[in-house]
Amino acid sequence: MTNTKIIGTGSYLPEKIMTNDDWAKIVDTSDEWITSRTGIKERHFASDQQATSDLVVEAAKEAIKDAGIESSEIDLIIVATITADNAYPSTANWVQKKMGLKPVPSFDIGAACSGFLYALIMADSLIKTGVAKTALIAGAETMSKVINWKDRNTCVLFGDGAGAAVLRSSENEDDGILSTYWGADGNLGDLLMQPAGGSAMPASEETVANKLHTVHMKGNEVFKHAVLRMQEAAMKSLELAGLTGEDVDLFIPHQANMRIIEATIRRAKIPMEKTFVNIDKIANISAATIPIALDHARKEGRLKEGDNALLAAFGAGFTWGGAVVRF
Ligand code: ACO
Repeated sequence: MTNTKIIGTGSYLPEKIMTNDDWAKIVDTSDEWITSRTGIKERHFASDQQATSDLVVEAAKEAIKDAGIESSEIDLIIVATITADNAYPSTANWVQKKMGLKPVPSFDIGAACSGFLYALIMADSLIKTGVAKTALIAGAETMSKVINWKDRNTCVLFGDGAGAAVLRSSENEDDGILSTYWGADGNLGDLLMQPAGGSAMPASEETVANKLHTVHMKGNEVFKHAVLRMQEAAMKSLELAGLTGEDVDLFIPHQANMRIIEATIRRAKIPMEKTFVNIDKIANISAATIPIALDHARKEGRLKEGDNALLAAFGAGFTWGGAVVRF
């Protein structure tokens, strides 16, 4: 049976770095509060000229080079983002244009922090059913453009960046994507959302004045669900692959909060040494977090041939997803 392999990864972080101390000059916060509550020390922010598609292009070029393929071989493009360049066309289409890719199916997925895993599961399914052979998938965000720069409850939590991967069909069933698991609960959608700018609340002078086009989050509530769903995503993905925490060579969790990561590894019985953490340097980049971490882990030599990687994420929606990938 056809399987799916990740044959290349790439990532891009904008040049500008914003530290916790930089935020403390803008809102009533401190490095101590942000570090102890979240684990975040700094994050990267895109320039005014950079749209989300520009970040994807940089990460995608790296992923295609790493995969050792020609860009003309790509027959599917999926971008996971909640900070699309425009409401339409999709960011994936701008990427296709900017990279001069063939007119293959291109679309966005909006599953917030679980977005990259949703894209991975979609691409995996389309490859396994023979619809696509070589997919370019990315998770990318410019969260700096949708945060309320006056709301300390949310503004300090996010960063900008992009990660990409090239997925290809493979005849080898012993490696590649071994299991996937995903879910969503729309009943809890209003706990984390960007209220205005869509058909439910079209843009108006009032919505702009009230900053309703920015992230609104009930942090405490989200936290409780994030812990449970991250654990579920990790445990179910392992179970479906016929593995346990002991078989995991590297766990790559979504990086929203250090305390959520710690609770997940306790439950899955994965030691911290086998858990990839870069929240201190890049904060929460929503859909971009997992592919950036995956790329950094590979480049740092933390994922060797034959290693089992466990990926798990939770995000607005609520959405959650997991996967076990053997490299
Ligand atoms: N600096 C200083 N004080 C702050 C800050 C800040 N940046 N932010 C909030 N506070 C204050 C609050 O005002 C509150 O003060 P009060 O007690 O006087 O009212 C106090 O700190 C405690 O606030 P809480 O919200 O209870 O803090 P908590 O410990 O819950 O931490 C956090 C907040 C970090 C947001 C946490 O709730 C969290 O990580 N939630 C989950 C986030 C997540 O997983 N999101 C999902 C993915 S994101 C996506 O999908 C786009």
